[in-house]
Amino acid sequence: MSWSIEPRDPKTQSQGEVDGYAQTFRRWPSQPLVVRPHDAGELSGPERLERRLPPSRADLAGRGAKRAIGQLIHVRARVVDEDGSPVPGALVEIWHCNGAGKYLHPNDSSDSPPDPNFQGNARLVAGDGGLVELRTIKPAAYAVPDTAGWWRPPHIHFSVWGRAWLSRLVTQMFFPGDPLNEHDAILNAVRDPESRARCIARLVPTTSGPAHLPEGALVYEYQLVVRGRKAAPRMP
Ligand SMILES: [Fe+2]
Repeated sequence: MSWSIEPRDPKTQSQGEVDGYAQTFRRWPSQPLVVRPHDAGELSGPERLERRLPPSRADLAGRGAKRAIGQLIHVRARVVDEDGSPVPGALVEIWHCNGAGKYLHPNDSSDSPPDPNFQGNARLVAGDGGLVELRTIKPAAYAVPDTAGWWRPPHIHFSVWGRAWLSRLVTQMFFPGDPLNEHDAILNAVRDPESRARCIARLVPTTSGPAHLPEGALVYEYQLVVRGRKAAPRMP
Protein backbone atom coordinates (compact mmCIF):
# COMPACT_ATOMS: atom_id res chain seq x y z
CA MET A 1 0.00 0.00 0.00
CA SER A 2 1.21 3.52 -0.68
CA TRP A 3 -0.12 7.00 -0.12
CA SER A 4 0.92 10.51 -1.05
CA ILE A 5 2.82 12.85 1.25
CA GLU A 6 3.61 16.53 1.05
CA PRO A 7 5.65 17.10 -2.09
CA ARG A 8 8.55 18.81 -0.33
CA ASP A 9 9.80 20.02 3.01
CA PRO A 10 10.80 23.68 2.62
CA LYS A 11 13.20 23.41 5.52
CA THR A 12 15.44 20.88 3.89
CA GLN A 13 14.50 20.99 0.23
CA SER A 14 14.68 23.73 -2.34
CA GLN A 15 11.62 25.29 -3.86
CA GLY A 16 10.73 23.39 -7.03
CA GLU A 17 10.80 26.24 -9.52
CA VAL A 18 12.90 29.32 -9.01
CA ASP A 19 12.68 32.58 -10.94
CA GLY A 20 15.83 33.08 -12.95
CA TYR A 21 16.85 29.46 -12.61
CA ALA A 22 15.15 27.71 -15.49
CA GLN A 23 16.77 24.32 -14.91
CA THR A 24 15.09 23.83 -11.54
CA PHE A 25 11.96 22.15 -12.81
CA ARG A 26 14.02 19.37 -14.38
CA ARG A 27 15.71 18.68 -11.07
CA TRP A 28 12.54 18.07 -9.14
CA PRO A 29 10.16 15.06 -9.12
CA SER A 30 7.23 15.68 -11.44
CA GLN A 31 5.02 13.29 -9.45
CA PRO A 32 3.99 13.44 -5.78
CA LEU A 33 6.32 11.58 -3.45
CA VAL A 34 5.20 8.24 -2.07
CA VAL A 35 5.85 6.84 1.39
CA ARG A 36 7.65 3.52 1.27
CA PRO A 37 8.39 1.21 4.17
CA HIS A 38 12.06 1.12 5.04
CA ASP A 39 13.17 -2.40 4.24
CA ALA A 40 16.43 -3.83 3.00
CA GLY A 41 16.18 -1.94 -0.28
CA GLU A 42 16.24 1.42 1.51
CA LEU A 43 18.39 0.65 4.52
CA SER A 44 21.17 -1.18 2.72
CA GLY A 45 23.84 0.76 0.89
CA PRO A 46 26.46 0.52 -1.79
CA GLU A 47 29.07 -1.99 -0.69
CA ARG A 48 32.77 -1.38 -1.11
CA LEU A 49 31.98 1.69 -3.14
CA GLU A 50 35.53 2.94 -2.82
CA ARG A 51 36.68 0.01 -4.98
CA ARG A 52 34.47 1.13 -7.84
CA LEU A 53 35.00 4.83 -7.19
CA PRO A 54 38.61 5.06 -6.03
CA PRO A 55 39.53 7.92 -3.71
CA SER A 56 41.87 10.65 -4.91
CA ARG A 57 44.34 12.99 -3.30
CA ALA A 58 42.85 15.50 -0.88
CA ASP A 59 44.51 18.40 -2.63
CA LEU A 60 42.96 20.41 -5.45
CA ALA A 61 45.59 23.13 -5.23
CA GLY A 62 48.59 20.94 -5.94
CA ARG A 63 47.99 19.33 -9.32
CA GLY A 64 50.98 20.88 -11.03
CA ALA A 65 54.48 22.00 -10.23
CA LYS A 66 53.13 25.16 -8.65
CA ARG A 67 50.07 25.54 -6.51
CA ALA A 68 46.82 26.72 -8.04
CA ILE A 69 46.15 30.45 -8.28
CA GLY A 70 43.86 31.79 -5.59
CA GLN A 71 43.44 32.09 -1.87
CA LEU A 72 44.61 28.87 -0.24
CA ILE A 73 41.95 27.28 1.98
CA HIS A 74 41.56 24.10 3.97
CA VAL A 75 38.07 22.58 4.17
CA ARG A 76 37.09 20.34 7.07
CA ALA A 77 33.73 18.73 6.33
CA ARG A 78 32.15 16.34 8.78
CA VAL A 79 29.55 13.81 7.64
CA VAL A 80 26.98 13.09 10.33
CA ASP A 81 23.58 11.41 10.48
CA GLU A 82 20.34 12.80 11.90
CA ASP A 83 21.49 12.14 15.45
CA GLY A 84 24.77 13.95 14.95
CA SER A 85 26.72 10.70 14.91
CA PRO A 86 29.67 10.58 12.51
CA VAL A 87 29.36 8.50 9.35
CA PRO A 88 32.83 6.99 8.92
CA GLY A 89 33.46 5.47 5.52
CA ALA A 90 31.12 7.86 3.70
CA LEU A 91 32.30 8.57 0.20
CA VAL A 92 32.43 12.31 -0.46
CA GLU A 93 32.91 13.81 -3.90
CA ILE A 94 33.86 17.47 -4.02
CA TRP A 95 34.15 19.86 -6.95
CA HIS A 96 34.33 23.59 -7.57
CA CYS A 97 35.59 26.16 -10.05
CA ASN A 98 39.05 27.65 -10.05
CA GLY A 99 40.19 31.05 -8.81
CA ALA A 100 38.91 32.66 -12.02
CA GLY A 101 35.46 31.04 -11.96
CA LYS A 102 36.24 28.28 -14.52
CA TYR A 103 35.22 24.64 -14.01
CA LEU A 104 37.40 21.81 -15.18
CA HIS A 105 34.51 20.48 -17.26
CA PRO A 106 33.75 20.48 -21.01
CA ASN A 107 30.35 22.11 -20.40
CA ASP A 108 32.00 25.25 -19.04
CA SER A 109 32.23 27.45 -22.15
CA SER A 110 33.06 30.69 -20.34
CA ASP A 111 36.13 32.62 -21.43
CA SER A 112 37.54 32.58 -17.89
CA PRO A 113 41.04 31.11 -17.99
CA PRO A 114 41.78 27.53 -16.90
CA ASP A 115 44.48 26.92 -14.31
CA PRO A 116 46.81 24.01 -15.14
CA ASN A 117 47.74 23.67 -11.48
CA PHE A 118 44.14 23.28 -10.31
CA GLN A 119 42.63 19.81 -10.06
CA GLY A 120 38.92 20.70 -9.93
CA ASN A 121 37.53 17.64 -8.13
CA ALA A 122 38.32 15.09 -5.46
CA ARG A 123 36.83 11.91 -4.03
CA LEU A 124 37.53 11.24 -0.35
CA VAL A 125 36.52 8.69 2.27
CA ALA A 126 35.41 10.01 5.67
CA GLY A 127 37.58 8.92 8.57
CA ASP A 128 36.49 7.62 11.96
CA GLY A 129 35.04 10.96 13.01
CA GLY A 130 33.14 11.33 9.73
CA LEU A 131 35.73 13.90 8.73
CA VAL A 132 37.08 14.70 5.29
CA GLU A 133 39.76 17.32 4.84
CA LEU A 134 40.70 19.04 1.62
CA ARG A 135 43.40 21.51 0.65
CA THR A 136 42.27 23.75 -2.15
CA ILE A 137 41.84 27.36 -3.21
CA LYS A 138 38.77 29.47 -2.62
CA PRO A 139 36.60 29.28 -5.76
CA ALA A 140 35.70 32.55 -7.46
CA ALA A 141 32.22 33.87 -8.13
CA TYR A 142 31.10 33.40 -11.73
CA ALA A 143 28.39 34.76 -14.02
CA VAL A 144 25.69 32.25 -14.97
CA PRO A 145 25.34 32.19 -18.78
CA ASP A 146 22.10 33.34 -20.41
CA THR A 147 20.71 35.03 -17.31
CA ALA A 148 20.00 38.65 -16.52
CA GLY A 149 23.10 39.26 -14.47
CA TRP A 150 22.98 36.34 -12.06
CA TRP A 151 26.35 35.67 -10.42
CA ARG A 152 26.90 32.56 -8.37
CA PRO A 153 28.66 33.32 -5.08
CA PRO A 154 31.78 31.27 -4.32
CA HIS A 155 30.61 27.75 -3.46
CA ILE A 156 31.79 24.17 -3.24
CA HIS A 157 29.73 21.21 -4.47
CA PHE A 158 29.46 18.03 -2.40
CA SER A 159 28.06 14.61 -3.23
CA VAL A 160 27.85 12.14 -0.34
CA TRP A 161 27.27 8.40 -0.30
CA GLY A 162 26.53 7.31 3.25
CA ARG A 163 25.97 3.84 4.65
CA ALA A 164 22.45 3.52 3.24
CA TRP A 165 20.84 4.56 -0.03
CA LEU A 166 18.68 6.97 2.00
CA SER A 167 21.84 8.83 3.05
CA ARG A 168 22.57 10.08 -0.44
CA LEU A 169 23.10 13.84 -0.41
CA VAL A 170 24.05 16.38 -3.08
CA THR A 171 24.48 19.93 -1.84
CA GLN A 172 26.65 23.04 -1.89
CA MET A 173 28.72 24.89 0.70
CA PHE A 174 28.84 28.68 0.75
CA PHE A 175 31.29 31.13 2.33
CA PRO A 176 30.34 33.41 5.22
CA GLY A 177 29.89 37.10 4.54
CA ASP A 178 29.81 37.01 0.76
CA PRO A 179 27.36 39.68 -0.49
CA LEU A 180 26.33 37.48 -3.42
CA ASN A 181 24.87 34.91 -1.00
CA GLU A 182 21.85 37.17 -0.49
CA HIS A 183 20.95 37.14 -4.16
CA ASP A 184 21.82 33.60 -5.20
CA ALA A 185 18.81 31.85 -6.73
CA ILE A 186 19.99 28.40 -5.64
CA LEU A 187 20.77 29.27 -2.02
CA ASN A 188 17.58 31.31 -1.67
CA ALA A 189 15.48 28.52 -3.14
CA VAL A 190 15.81 27.17 0.41
CA ARG A 191 13.09 29.30 2.01
CA ASP A 192 13.85 28.67 5.65
CA PRO A 193 16.54 31.13 6.95
CA GLU A 194 17.83 28.67 9.54
CA SER A 195 18.28 25.99 6.89
CA ARG A 196 20.06 28.49 4.63
CA ALA A 197 22.40 29.37 7.46
CA ARG A 198 23.41 25.71 7.71
CA CYS A 199 24.63 25.90 4.11
CA ILE A 200 27.29 28.45 5.04
CA ALA A 201 30.66 27.28 6.29
CA ARG A 202 32.28 28.50 9.49
CA LEU A 203 35.59 30.30 9.25
CA VAL A 204 37.92 29.06 11.96
CA PRO A 205 39.40 32.13 13.66
CA THR A 206 42.86 32.85 12.36
CA THR A 207 43.99 33.31 15.96
CA SER A 208 43.25 29.65 16.75
CA GLY A 209 46.93 28.83 16.61
CA PRO A 210 49.09 26.63 14.41
CA ALA A 211 47.66 23.38 15.79
CA HIS A 212 44.31 24.24 14.20
CA LEU A 213 45.50 26.10 11.12
CA PRO A 214 47.55 24.54 8.34
CA GLU A 215 50.26 26.91 7.26
CA GLY A 216 49.18 29.56 4.80
CA ALA A 217 45.53 28.51 4.53
CA LEU A 218 42.27 29.83 5.90
CA VAL A 219 40.27 27.00 7.45
CA TYR A 220 36.55 26.49 6.86
CA GLU A 221 34.47 23.95 8.74
CA TYR A 222 31.27 22.50 7.41
CA GLN A 223 28.80 19.86 8.45
CA LEU A 224 27.11 17.50 6.01
CA VAL A 225 23.99 16.14 7.71
CA VAL A 226 22.83 13.37 5.44
CA ARG A 227 19.36 12.80 6.89
CA GLY A 228 16.70 14.03 9.29
CA ARG A 229 15.25 17.38 10.35
CA LYS A 230 18.62 19.11 10.18
CA ALA A 231 19.69 17.55 6.91
CA ALA A 232 21.66 19.76 4.58
CA PRO A 233 19.30 21.23 1.98
CA ARG A 234 19.60 19.43 -1.33
CA MET A 235 21.04 21.56 -4.12
CA PRO A 236 21.95 20.43 -7.61
FE1 LIG B 1 28.79 25.55 -9.16
